[in-house]
Amino acid sequence: MIVAGNWKMFDGPDPRALAGLDAIVCPPFTRLRDCVDAGLTTYAQNVHWEPEGAFTGEISAPMLLELGVTGSLVGHSERRQLFGETDDGVARRTAAALEAGLHVIACVGETLEQREADETEDVLRRQVSVLEPHERLVVAYEPVWAIGTGRTATPELAQAAHAFIKSLLDVPVLYGGSVKPDNAAGLFEQPDVGGALVGGASLDVDSFRAICQAAASRS
Ligand code: PGA
Repeated sequence: MIVAGNWKMFDGPDPRALAGLDAIVCPPFTRLRDCVDAGLTTYAQNVHWEPEGAFTGEISAPMLLELGVTGSLVGHSERRQLFGETDDGVARRTAAALEAGLHVIACVGETLEQREADETEDVLRRQVSVLEPHERLVVAYEPVWAIGTGRTATPELAQAAHAFIKSLLDVPVLYGGSVKPDNAAGLFEQPDVGGALVGGASLDVDSFRAICQAAASRS
């Protein structure tokens, strides 16, 4: 079971309060060093495909590795929806990060409109098809309608999507979208749920710890 906390553009908790927790943290760039120094498994929230160059606002895999960062999220729905991230960009970022030696959590998921139009499988197929299996690659299934809304997918709905993703690409699949201490255990019971990518609840040390506990008791 893998639990990762996505702090998004929030300062987040004191990393020292998370010491010893079996989890990944994905803080904003300014907190990466603090998290590494606190001994946490630390991932960035995005990574560029080039090692260096004229790419204002981006960061490269070698730069992250030099900081002691060991992985990155790629293709989060906020990147796709708000910053025009494409499947091609996600593929390039993922391949370069893996090649450089980072771990990658590649995020996929359908919008509410796509789910209601019965397009979920088509969307997931398109998003997953640009990824190649790799021992350091994990996918996070995050239905966009469940992110930050308090509206979690039911364990059965999550399981169906995870099984579909695994039929396309055999890597661990984390669930993300309003994971909280009170719904985590039900999700973790599903056979194809390999853990969670936690947003809001990862900003609260007690909530994040409780979710990690639920994962540990399932492992
Ligand atoms: P949430 O965010 O847990 O706040 O819904 C999840 C994510 O965006 O990764």
